[in-house]
Amino acid sequence: MYEERIKRAALRDKVISAEESATFFKDGMVVGASGFTRGGDTKVVLKALAKRAQSDPLKIQLFTGASLGHGNDADLSNANALTKRLPFQVDTDLRNHINHGDLLFIDQHLGETNEALINGDLPKIDIAVIEATQILEDGSIVPTTSIGNNVVFLDLADKVIIEINTAIPLEIRGLHDIFRVGKAPNKQIIPITSSSTRIGTDTISVDPNKIIGIVFHEITDMTGDIVPPDEITGAIADNILDFLAHEVKKGRLTDSLLPLQCGIGKVANAVMAGFSKSDFKNLTMYSEVLQDSTFELIDAGMMDFASSTSMTVSQNCYNKFINNLDTYRDKVVFRPQNISNAAEVIRRLGVIGINTALEVDMYGNVNSTHVGGTKMMNGIGGSGDFARNAYMSIFVTSSTAKGNNISSVVPMVSHHDHTEHDVDVLVTEKGLADLRGLAPRERVPVIINNIVHEDYRDEFMDYFNRAKAKGGQTPHLLDEVYKWHNRFNETGSMKA
Ligand code: COA
Repeated sequence: MYEERIKRAALRDKVISAEESATFFKDGMVVGASGFTRGGDTKVVLKALAKRAQSDPLKIQLFTGASLGHGNDADLSNANALTKRLPFQVDTDLRNHINHGDLLFIDQHLGETNEALINGDLPKIDIAVIEATQILEDGSIVPTTSIGNNVVFLDLADKVIIEINTAIPLEIRGLHDIFRVGKAPNKQIIPITSSSTRIGTDTISVDPNKIIGIVFHEITDMTGDIVPPDEITGAIADNILDFLAHEVKKGRLTDSLLPLQCGIGKVANAVMAGFSKSDFKNLTMYSEVLQDSTFELIDAGMMDFASSTSMTVSQNCYNKFINNLDTYRDKVVFRPQNISNAAEVIRRLGVIGINTALEVDMYGNVNSTHVGGTKMMNGIGGSGDFARNAYMSIFVTSSTAKGNNISSVVPMVSHHDHTEHDVDVLVTEKGLADLRGLAPRERVPVIINNIVHEDYRDEFMDYFNRAKAKGGQTPHLLDEVYKWHNRFNETGSMKA
C-alpha cells in the first residue's frame, strides 16, 4: 500500500505512527492543520498531540481552515494545549474555554487567513499537518475532501507531517483546483469567470525535504444529521424562494439566478432544499461548503456545477459522493479558501449570498457571532467575505429565540459583524425586508413591519418614532439602545 500511496520512494521511510508524530511538537509552536468544517481534517496527529499534552504539558497556537471534526478542538482545549486558535470553530468545549478566557481566539474572515500569513501579520508556521490521499513522485500531494488553507500552510511551514487517508479513493484526484495568488504588489489576477472555471493544478506542490513524517489512517470524515425543514426554517426558505422568483419576473435575474452561496445550518439547508421544488434550473454554486442539498440538486439535474473549498454532509451523502467520484468529477470542484472566498471572484460572478444572523437591527446591521454582545458562538466564517462582495447579500434568522424571550431584531445589534452597508435583504419566518435602495430611516418601517415578531412590533415602532423625533441620519436614543438586552439579562425576557 505504501508504494501506491507514496509514489516518491525516498519518502517511504518517513512513515511513522501518530504517537511518534506527536513528539515533533514543542511548547510554543505554531501549527497549521488541514480541516474546514468536517471535510478533510487531520484525524490522528492532533489527537495524539492532545493525548501527549495530558501527561507532558505543552501549548501551541493552532491555525486551520475553519472548524474541525473528530473532537480535535475539544481534545486540545480540554488538554489545555492551546494558547491561540483561529480562524473559526464550532466546538462546544472549545467555545466554553474561549468564553471562559482560557485561550485566545481570532475570529477571522476565512478568505483572509492566507493573506495574513503571507504578509507576516501572523507568526510563521512551524509544523503543517495536512491530510492527503497520495504523495506523488515530485512530492506533491493529492488533497481529500477540503483544501482550506492547506496550500499556504504547506508553503510557509518549516516542517510538514502528512496524514495519508486510505479511506479516500485515489480517484478523488482531479476534483481540486490549486492556484497561488501570491503577495502584493505582485498578486495574480484570479481568472475565474464562472463557478466551473479551472485555473490551476489538481495537486498541491510541496518541498519533499520539509516532510518529517507520514502517518497512515483509514478514518472517514465526520458526517452530520440533516435536520428536515420545520415550520420556521421552511417559512424562511419559502420567503427567499418567492423573492427570487419575483426578481426573475421583474427581469433582474434569469431562472438560473446567479451563483449561490449558502451558509451552513438548518436554515441554509432548508433554503437549498427548497430549490428542488422550484422552477429554477441550471443553478450553480460558488460557495465555501457543500451540503447534502447541493448533491441532491446536482443529482436531480437542477444544478450544473458547485465550487467550494469543503463539504459537510450526512453519512448517506458522503458515501454516495465517495463511491461515485467519477459522477461528480465535472460537477464539483474544491479550491483553496482564499479563492473560494475571494472578493474579486465573488464580485465578478455576482454571487447571491445567503447567511445566517444571530440578531439584526432596525437599520440592517448584523451580528452573526456574539451572544449578548460578549460570548462567542462560532465565528464570522466566510459570511463577511460573501456579504461585502455579493451581488445580493441576504441574511436570515428566526424572528425570536429562546421561546420568544429574545427578539432577533433589535434596535442596535450588540456586536457588529456585517454593517448595514453590506446587507441587502433580511428574512425571518414573518417575511422579508428588501433594503436595496433604501436610506436608513426608510429601512426601519420596512424591517419592523415585515420581519419583527408581533410581540415586539409596537415597542419597536415607539422607540423608532421617539429616536426619529430627535433627528439624525441614523436616529438612535443611545441611553436606550440596549434596553432590550439589559431587560433580558435582568428578567430573562426582552418583552416589556
Ligand atoms: N441571542 C441569543 N441567542 C440566540 C440568538 C440571539 N439573538 N439567536 C439565536 N440564538 C441561539 C439559539 O437559541 C441557539 O441556541 P441553542 O444552541 O442553545 O439552541 C443558537 O443561538 C443557534 O441558533 P440557531 O437558530 O439554532 O441557528 P443556527 O444553528 O442556524 O446558527 C449561527 C446560527 C449564526 C450561530 C450560525 O449560522 C453561524 O455561526 N454563522 C456565522 C458563520 C457563517 O455565517 N458562516 C457562513 C459561511 S458557511
